[in-house]
Amino acid sequence: MKIILVAGARPNFMKIAPLIHILKGHPTIYPVLVHTGQHYDILMSDQFFLDLEIPAPDINLEVGSASHAVQTARIMEKFEEVCLKEKPDYVMVVGDVNSTAACTLTAAKLGIKNIHYEAGLRSHDRSMPEEINRLVTDAISDIYITTSHDADENLLKENVSVDRIHMLGNLMIDTLVAQLPKAMKTPLNFPLLNQSKSINLDIDFNKKNYGVMTFHRPNNVDDKETLTKLVRIWGEISAKIPLIFPVHPRTFKNLVKFELQKEIDKYPNLYFIEPLGYLQFIHLVNCSLFVLTDSGGIQEETTYLNIPCLTVRPNTERPITIWEGTNKLIGIENIMSGVNLIMEGKGKKGSIPKFWDGKTAERIVKLLENLDQ
Ligand code: UD1
Repeated sequence: MKIILVAGARPNFMKIAPLIHILKGHPTIYPVLVHTGQHYDILMSDQFFLDLEIPAPDINLEVGSASHAVQTARIMEKFEEVCLKEKPDYVMVVGDVNSTAACTLTAAKLGIKNIHYEAGLRSHDRSMPEEINRLVTDAISDIYITTSHDADENLLKENVSVDRIHMLGNLMIDTLVAQLPKAMKTPLNFPLLNQSKSINLDIDFNKKNYGVMTFHRPNNVDDKETLTKLVRIWGEISAKIPLIFPVHPRTFKNLVKFELQKEIDKYPNLYFIEPLGYLQFIHLVNCSLFVLTDSGGIQEETTYLNIPCLTVRPNTERPITIWEGTNKLIGIENIMSGVNLIMEGKGKKGSIPKFWDGKTAERIVKLLENLDQ
């Protein structure tokens, strides 16, 4: 069986890594790894291939950044050529980025069966581009692999038949389980944003006395007023506890555009650093007191690591991280009180959801072995 695995943006790489490791050398399944090039910076892409020992992609579509419509269209145009040439039996997409929806749409129109890993997650918020991608992908996929039972329920409500839904656990956690020992040995020295030299921060990483944050959602960082408000709150927090922020390129562009550098410079304990590779990032998070984020995947990683996570969003497509894990949704106005609670030792504790156990890739490969060709 020939299967194309699609990866395009940073959060996809942790999901395909464990699969590609099992499938390389598999006796009956032949994987072709396609990178769409949605993310292309060394720190947003290559570093993850290195850290996770993912072989170089068989094909790179090199689409780069553009508006949503243009990026999606470029991926479709190039991915169609790849599908016509490679004639795969299946296309497998992961997550909810533009590459996910674009490749699913392409495969469906060519009559190639599509498998969606991380199907069924819903924020029920169509102002998020990812929610549109999830809805489009799940409307036309053939096989649905989910990470939790709430996702199964969402798919059933959308009339997906039960025999096409497989709750097999969380691939991102496979990667975390596999890489955690190596991550904890990876030195923590980072380049500050816009400086080429790495520095050692004046922080004792063994004492859980700092917070980590990541912000890149358009809702939080594309609007000047909101981003300005956030910078002030980050500054306020950093007066109590150091905050380390590996800055996403989208956020960086907006900090420059909205001229927020001067405001940031007021806070000596607010460390803006270049985006981190996987191993350094996981090390940093695992030693932190808390994480402040608007990411999707980090809500899951903190749940596994039992680190309190404050998610600055009105909703989440990953409610299991709230029901069972360490995650809490929080509005901008409540960030400070959320951090105060954690500093008083009242951070959320949780448990690890079913099948978030490091063995999801094995279960998925078993499923693939039993599919019709
Ligand atoms: C994308 C995903 C989002 C995911 C995030 C993780 C969609 C709709 N969004 O958002 O779900 O959480 O990736 O990072 O698919 N840029 C660079 N270098 C890069 C990539 C991007 O400089 O390697 C800059 C470009 O200026 C680009 C901007 O960042 O315009 C945003 O990138 P884009 O891929 O459009 O969206 P993300 O915000 O990264």
